[in-house]
Amino acid sequence: MAVSIIILGEYLLMNEKVSVIAIDGPAASGKSTVANLVAKELQIPYINTGNMYRAVTWYFLQNDVKMNGLTNLVVESLLSDFELCYQKNDHGTFVLSVNGRILDFEIRSPEVAEHVAIVATNALVRKKMTELQRYLGGQQLVVMEGRDIGSVVFPNAKYKFFITASPLVRAQRRLNQNGETFSNATLESVAADIATRDKIDSEREIAPLKQTEDAVLIDTSDLSIDKVVEKITSCISM
Ligand code: DC
Repeated sequence: MAVSIIILGEYLLMNEKVSVIAIDGPAASGKSTVANLVAKELQIPYINTGNMYRAVTWYFLQNDVKMNGLTNLVVESLLSDFELCYQKNDHGTFVLSVNGRILDFEIRSPEVAEHVAIVATNALVRKKMTELQRYLGGQQLVVMEGRDIGSVVFPNAKYKFFITASPLVRAQRRLNQNGETFSNATLESVAADIATRDKIDSEREIAPLKQTEDAVLIDTSDLSIDKVVEKITSCISM
């Protein structure tokens, strides 16, 4: 894609929008469900970047890494043997693999959920994931979902949405997702876990979760999934 750059004093301004539908928002806000359906309706690829951070976390756990002692040396050495692929399978669905192993339910485990926010604060991890996301998104129109897609990965995305929901609704939704919470989880414990994750995601130094000024805010607390999908697709011209 040709990107025109205007040199203005010391600043480089990228004035061409990138063909990305950026959908950001906090954990359990319903953004994955919505992003997936938007992509299906528009018949374009859907890229869930949270799954990439989950895949790194899964890999770190496999290697018995102590999550509260993540030094750059440890992360660098782990990432040097880490190959994340994002490819279409025979059914046209994107699948994630790490070093050739396809990952599915493994990255949705409560153990991964417990540690992923900390792993996602690491600068080296973020650099690697951001590069991959920019590579995947720079070509045809895609739906890319995460925390920093509209703010950092593609600040010049053509479309930006910020999806949220009340803390209680989000906790209930997470509790309803089989296998993602520990078996003794309650609404209160899930709400507390989500609040911890929100705090880490939005207060981290690099690429914190935040709504950009040009993103359309959608609170899904009282909206059906179909209504949210309709709101988004009605903004897209292809
Ligand atoms: O969307 P999710 O709950 O699967 O995301 C898992 C974690 O990954 C979440 O704690 C925040 C992090 N994440 C991120 O930092 N940047 C992204 N673009 C996507 C996810």
